Amino acid sequence: MKAIVAVDRNWGIGLKGKLLVHIPADQKFFRETTMGHVVVMGRKTLESFPHGSPLKDRVNIVLTKGGSRLPDDVEIAHSIDELKELLKRYEGEEIYCIGGAKVYEELLPMCDECLVTKIDESYEADAYFPDLDADPEWELVRDGNEEDEQTYFDVIYYFLKYRRVKNTV
Ligand SMILES: NC(=O)c1ccc[n+]([C@@H]2O[C@H](COP(=O)([O-])OP(=O)(O)OC[C@H]3O[C@@H](n4cnc5c(N)ncnc54)[C@H](OP(=O)(O)O)[C@@H]3O)[C@@H](O)[C@H]2O)c1
Repeated sequence: MKAIVAVDRNWGIGLKGKLLVHIPADQKFFRETTMGHVVVMGRKTLESFPHGSPLKDRVNIVLTKGGSRLPDDVEIAHSIDELKELLKRYEGEEIYCIGGAKVYEELLPMCDECLVTKIDESYEADAYFPDLDADPEWELVRDGNEEDEQTYFDVIYYFLKYRRVKNTV
């Protein structure tokens, strides 16, 4: 499994149920990367999408303990164990963990790669991704592109890739 996330300087990812910033090129990167594959998300992230609708042309798996009404065209896992069971159906396929904070934290041990859009700003945030720079189990893949600065108006950001160096599971 891979995680895909956009973080600010402090590894902030969201505020009050919303993204910190919308960068069209990052949204395009997210769409193109995940298209045709399996995406795993928390119930709150699903609800943050327009009309609470799942992502088109992808298998949407939603973690929830239950209680909320969810669209018919999502697959539901009520626990991490149930998710692992469900994912057996998708063996050999690309699976992306797409958040939010709770689900990233829980599924990071199952991830071997993180695609991180690092935004060079400090926003007010209440949801965070684990700081991979402070975690010896993860290293930044230096393939020469990490220095490629991207800009959206005055916002500077980078497309980074982190790889697990030590196995926890
Ligand atoms: N920057 C980014 O790339 C990015 C990406 C995604 C999301 N976000 C942001 O992240 C924030 C949302 O994160 P969040 O942590 O509040 O919510 P979340 O992780 O999206 O969803 C949490 C919910 O998922 C369900 N869940 C989680 N673990 C579970 C488990 N083990 N078993 C069963 N259900 C489980 C629970 O749903 P129930 O309450 O229904 O039981 C829980 O309340 C928003 O601000 C969003 O915009 C940012």
